[in-house]
Amino acid sequence: MLALFIVGYLLGVSKAADPIQILNSHIAVTSYGYQYWTADKVNDGIVNIQGIADNCGCCAALLRPAWVQVTLDKTYLVEKILVLGRTDQDFTQFDNITLLLGRQDQSLQAAAFTWQNRSFAMTTLAPPREAYVVRVSGGRSTDSMTTSTYMTICEIILYRQADCLPGKYSANCSRDCHCLSGLCESVTGTCLTSLCKHGWRGLACNETCNSGTFGDNCSSICHCYENVTCHHINGTCPNNQCAAGWTRDNCSVACTPGFYGQNCSKDCHCDTCQNVNGSCVGSLRCHDGFRMENSFCTPVSPECHTDKYYITLVAVSSVFGVVVAAVIVLSVLIIRRKHPQFVGETRANRESSSHETYDDLSPNSTNPNFYDDLQMS
Ligand SMILES: *[C@@H]1O[C@H](CO)[C@@H](O)[C@H](O)[C@H]1NC(C)=O
Ligand SMILES: *[C@@H]1O[C@H](CO)[C@@H](O)[C@H](O)[C@H]1NC(C)=O
Ligand SMILES: *[C@@H]1O[C@H](CO)[C@@H](O)[C@H](O)[C@H]1NC(C)=O
Ligand SMILES: *[C@@H]1O[C@H](CO)[C@@H](O)[C@H](O)[C@H]1NC(C)=O
Ligand SMILES: *[C@@H]1O[C@H](CO)[C@@H](O)[C@H](O)[C@H]1NC(C)=O
Ligand SMILES: *[C@@H]1O[C@H](CO)[C@@H](O)[C@H](O)[C@H]1NC(C)=O
Ligand SMILES: *[C@@H]1O[C@H](CO)[C@@H](O)[C@H](O)[C@H]1NC(C)=O
Ligand SMILES: *[C@@H]1O[C@H](CO)[C@@H](O)[C@H](O)[C@H]1NC(C)=O
Ligand SMILES: *[C@@H]1O[C@H](CO)[C@@H](O)[C@H](O)[C@H]1NC(C)=O
Ligand SMILES: *[C@@H]1O[C@H](CO)[C@@H](O)[C@H](O)[C@H]1NC(C)=O
Repeated sequence: MLALFIVGYLLGVSKAADPIQILNSHIAVTSYGYQYWTADKVNDGIVNIQGIADNCGCCAALLRPAWVQVTLDKTYLVEKILVLGRTDQDFTQFDNITLLLGRQDQSLQAAAFTWQNRSFAMTTLAPPREAYVVRVSGGRSTDSMTTSTYMTICEIILYRQADCLPGKYSANCSRDCHCLSGLCESVTGTCLTSLCKHGWRGLACNETCNSGTFGDNCSSICHCYENVTCHHINGTCPNNQCAAGWTRDNCSVACTPGFYGQNCSKDCHCDTCQNVNGSCVGSLRCHDGFRMENSFCTPVSPECHTDKYYITLVAVSSVFGVVVAAVIVLSVLIIRRKHPQFVGETRANRESSSHETYDDLSPNSTNPNFYDDLQMS
């Protein structure tokens, strides 16, 4: 018993809420009425249930072709429309009527009636349709006397979808609001604070940021590798591949000072540089071993005589030169000893041309021990 009760209760709760009658409406445009059977009678709330329509004075009789239009106070999600005719006689006055409805900014769309009987026409809209204007028209055949001269409508009754739960809007409440805070309007999704959640834009906050932007007011710029667009909410790039000069989850954080380029993997050799191209224009000086050249820190070059690096380079090459010279001299001496007859003819020339070099050589080269060692090996 209890289980049945619970199941019954759940079924009752999950059923869609009953539609709600829309009361705030007025007649915007109409054709003229017959005597006091004026167009405003279609929404005066009085239905011609019984008796003679003449007596109730609750119907509108409009000379065909005619239309009567109900304009609402705002756009609603209309779910059901009832159109009632007179119930006493002249049912033909209710024949050949059609229904149009639409949003304020749209042309009207047709909707079909289901006829309950000759004085009761109904339309059920599933899903509910956005409507600001509802128009009932009565056509007339030009070549036939079968149509009544008047279209008589006693009441037009409109029902709307029940309000959505907070956070939802649209037909069937199937869409999510994206307001920064607070509620959104049940029909259009417009946020009451008119501020959208990060990553969303538009009046209804129903559109994602334009490609290449993300975040709060879509005011942040994506920095993805090869200009690919990023995630509209958090700026994350596909495969987390940032553009040169940018890093972190959202690729919105510039490289740490001193680094630049793809993956921030290049060293600019100054304290702070431009994160994309490595320009050190904002830094006063380059790190040791580098010097400013067109605002970039480049390794020192040999023309720069004042640098410590250059002096070291010169010292190293001098020593190297001396050693090479020593080896040449020793080789010559060895050859001269082993083959005196072979070198005899050119000895004088050689001695004169390289005399100074020999004299300038460091003691190493003339060291007898060094020479002896070489000979033995
Ligand atoms: C027409 O149908 C409606 C709804 O079913 C009902 O209330 C009404 O009594 C009917 N009218 C006539 C004249 O049959
Ligand atoms: C709304 O629900 C109706 C049935 O209840 C369904 O036919 C329709 O497709 C739904 N529409 C949307 C937009 O979800
Ligand atoms: C119904 O109205 C249309 C115009 O809306 C008209 O063309 C048609 O002839 C009418 N039919 C009858 C039977 O009056
Ligand atoms: C957003 O809402 C507006 C107004 O309701 C509508 O015109 C537009 O088509 C919607 N855009 C998207 C992407 O749903
Ligand atoms: C987003 O826009 C709102 C309203 O214009 C403003 O108050 C807010 O500071 C903006 N946020 C950012 C990050 O620009
Ligand atoms: C990325 O876009 C910027 C500006 O639109 C452009 O200057 C740049 O060349 C683009 N880079 C690539 C890799 O497409
Ligand atoms: C950004 O959002 C996407 C999609 O929701 C998610 O996959 C990703 O992990 C998020 N990144 C960060 C850094 O939160
Ligand atoms: C990007 O991520 C950093 C931390 O990684 C965070 O401080 C910053 O606020 C984020 N920027 C945006 C626009 O989300
Ligand atoms: C940057 O990092 C990614 C992933 O770690 C790697 O595939 C890519 O080759 C790197 N690019 C450079 C220029 O270092
Ligand atoms: C490096 O980038 C900065 C900032 O975009 C720019 O002002 C500068 O001209 C660039 N330098 C070079 C040499 O491209």
